[in-house]
Amino acid sequence: TVPLKKLAAAEGITFGTAVSASALKQDTEYAKRLDAEFGSVTPEDAMKWAVVEPEQGEFDWQGADDIVNAADPNGPDGQEVRGHTLVWHSSLPGWLTTGSFSETEVTTLLREHIQTTVGRYAGRVKTWDVVNEPLNNDGTLRSSLWLNRLTDTYIADSFRWAHAADPSAVLYLNEYGAEWSGPKATALYNLVKKLLAEGVPIGGVGFQAHLTGSSRPDGFAAMLRRFADLGVDVAVTELDVRIPTSDPAGTVATTADLDSQARVYGQVVAACLSVPRCRSVTTWGFTDAYSWIPGGYPGWGAADLFDADRVAKPKPAHTTVAN
Ligand code: XIL
Repeated sequence: TVPLKKLAAAEGITFGTAVSASALKQDTEYAKRLDAEFGSVTPEDAMKWAVVEPEQGEFDWQGADDIVNAADPNGPDGQEVRGHTLVWHSSLPGWLTTGSFSETEVTTLLREHIQTTVGRYAGRVKTWDVVNEPLNNDGTLRSSLWLNRLTDTYIADSFRWAHAADPSAVLYLNEYGAEWSGPKATALYNLVKKLLAEGVPIGGVGFQAHLTGSSRPDGFAAMLRRFADLGVDVAVTELDVRIPTSDPAGTVATTADLDSQARVYGQVVAACLSVPRCRSVTTWGFTDAYSWIPGGYPGWGAADLFDADRVAKPKPAHTTVAN
């Protein structure tokens, strides 16, 4: 079969996946498939603050470096890297969430985190998910260390600091549950519009697209177009389509559910292809062997394009995406 990255390139988009640093290190089959099939990689966890700075001032870049080096983004057959993620309410180190810092100190910590992380990979990370999941489903700003201590200005500030650290990177605001109309999508739209009007260097909006086999992504293409019309790139950044599974490992599903899943995957890819400024589709992992879904959504799984059988077997969704 023709690799997805080739098929995607012929259509003018990039097809990528999230990558587990530990699987990359331990599983040669995984590393081979990653290299063969995907044109872009997103570190699944390896660049998150809790991972890169587990104790204040003590850094661990091993996993992130491994992923970026394996991608060899500036090499002749390299993969693009999507950096993920600089400012999020989750995956923060304990010293940061439990420490007592003044507002000025929190500002400095966030600015230095962004400068250090973006600076380290400047010229190698093409796009950054700068701010991740800033909204609640009702459209209000999500409570977080950042909102609560720094007010809503943390969003614009974060983009400006990231831009200063690597002016060539395309900076994304990344969100879930905004794939079709609703209060969250409306709030996201208004937020991006406001940031652009203020001259904030935001270059793209990422739609995570953590979906289920019964999702109906009919409105997704229109949503992508609506954001693109603001003058930013758009991308599908964390696509997976979970279905009910009958085993604790979350790998065994029915044929009917695998077929529904294939349809949803196909609709999402088609939506991106129909919008000129949709730059990429990234799946959140590519094999059911290492998916985050069974852990995050008990009773659900089998969410990826390849099954758990040593990552070798493409599922119906893979065929639909390729087509
Ligand atoms: C998830 C990872 O897949 C898990 O390994 C980790 O335990 C928690 O985070 N939205 C995001 C991603 O932006 O960073 C999350 O990744 C999934 C939801």
